[in-house]
Amino acid sequence: MKSIPIILLGCGGVGRQLLHHIISCRSLHSKQGIIIRLVGVSDSSSLLVSDDIMLSGMRNEFLAEICHVKSAGSPLKSLLNHGHCQLYTGQGALENIVSIASSLGRSTGLAVVDCSASAETEQVSSLGCCVVLANKKPLTCAIEDFEKLVSHFRRIRFESTVGAGLPVIASVTRVISSGDPISRIVGSLSGTLGYVMSELEEGKAFSEIVRAAKSLGYTEPDPRDDLSGMDVARKGLILSRLLGWRINLSDIKIESLYPSEFGPDSMSTEDFLSKGLWQLDEKLKERVATASSKGNVLRYVCVIEDSRCNVGLQELPKDSALGRLRGSDNVVEIYSRCYKNSPLVIQGAGAGNDTTAAGVLADIIDLQDIFA
Ligand SMILES: NC(=O)c1ccc[n+]([C@@H]2O[C@H](COP(=O)([O-])OP(=O)(O)OC[C@H]3O[C@@H](n4cnc5c(N)ncnc54)[C@H](OP(=O)(O)O)[C@@H]3O)[C@@H](O)[C@H]2O)c1
Ligand SMILES: *[C@@H]1O[C@H](CO)[C@@H](O)[C@H](O)[C@H]1NC(C)=O
Ligand SMILES: *[C@@H]1O[C@H](CO)[C@@H](O)[C@H](O)[C@H]1NC(C)=O
Repeated sequence: MKSIPIILLGCGGVGRQLLHHIISCRSLHSKQGIIIRLVGVSDSSSLLVSDDIMLSGMRNEFLAEICHVKSAGSPLKSLLNHGHCQLYTGQGALENIVSIASSLGRSTGLAVVDCSASAETEQVSSLGCCVVLANKKPLTCAIEDFEKLVSHFRRIRFESTVGAGLPVIASVTRVISSGDPISRIVGSLSGTLGYVMSELEEGKAFSEIVRAAKSLGYTEPDPRDDLSGMDVARKGLILSRLLGWRINLSDIKIESLYPSEFGPDSMSTEDFLSKGLWQLDEKLKERVATASSKGNVLRYVCVIEDSRCNVGLQELPKDSALGRLRGSDNVVEIYSRCYKNSPLVIQGAGAGNDTTAAGVLADIIDLQDIFA
């Protein structure tokens, strides 16, 4: 049996789903000769560490208890029974992560799994452990941090940062490794904006679509977080940097679907939804009609080409994979020498705790080959 110790950073929607997946995959993994051992779990204020990080891990019942407490909105430190664990807070938590990563990293294939929203993972990457990220932050801040992380390319995976569980990064990486030069990547990388664009095509008004999407829970609490295109830009940045471009978020041209005078600094979410939104209906309706008159459809995409990454509305052929897209799926088209006229297309659900956590788990297992 190969035992894989992991430290989970972040115990929110994705982190908890990952714990559920790990528990329910126990027998599958044991048939594959693998046991996953949780040796540490953290939230934003503390870290729980198993008493015997060398041999044992947290029991299923204890992991379920952690999920229970966190889904009730309480901090880890409010757990009454710490199982066979120690609780560390503040600086002590970070110091412990670093110390476990140093002692287990090189010898055991310890994976530090970042399902948080902080930017600290970069600190452990040089300690010899494996790193799996769902969190985009460490990859989209300074280029130096990105380069430091990916320089350990045998020991790092971040599939879930783009398209959740979809194998977008794995596909791009395989094409690059084969020496096939990628000339263009076009992707619809926001489920919310994919949904909005296909509803627009049906002739509905933008304001109605956004309000309906919000009430269905398809958007962030403030839908402007989706409509700004910033999340798509972060994914575009990760893909661009994978291609070896030394660019920053500020180098990406981002078209927001609302004007700056309707931004969060000038308007509350309620005012935006009731007073701002409908004023955008007419212009978008015209753009959809213009595209349609040329036999095209309008999509909100990230286009990576000629050393540039642009994020915004684009007219695309109706009969392309992106043109055929309906609903909230993500779609990515990759063009290269081998995939010149007929691109490599990856499509499917690109968000959600379940698919994101599944992508993280597959990354953890994938990394273990180097320690076989
Ligand atoms: N949900 C998706 O569909 C999806 C898809 C792709 C990528 N992601 C990314 O995956 C990550 C997790 O997403 P989520 O939806 O699970 O978020 P979430 O529900 O907000 O959970 C975030 C978790 O991270 C913890 N955290 C925040 N700062 C931390 C720090 N400095 N150290 C340790 N833990 C910290 C939070 O602690 P508290 O509990 O104490 O607040 C919380 O447990 C995010 O970076 C997100 O962008 C999510
Ligand atoms: C993900 O988990 C969070 C926290 O449990 C929850 O609020 C959210 O609705 C979940 N999202 C999806 C798409 O299931
Ligand atoms: C990106 O930011 C870094 C600082 O992190 C800076 O050194 C570099 O010049 C910037 N690159 C571009 C292309 O603006």
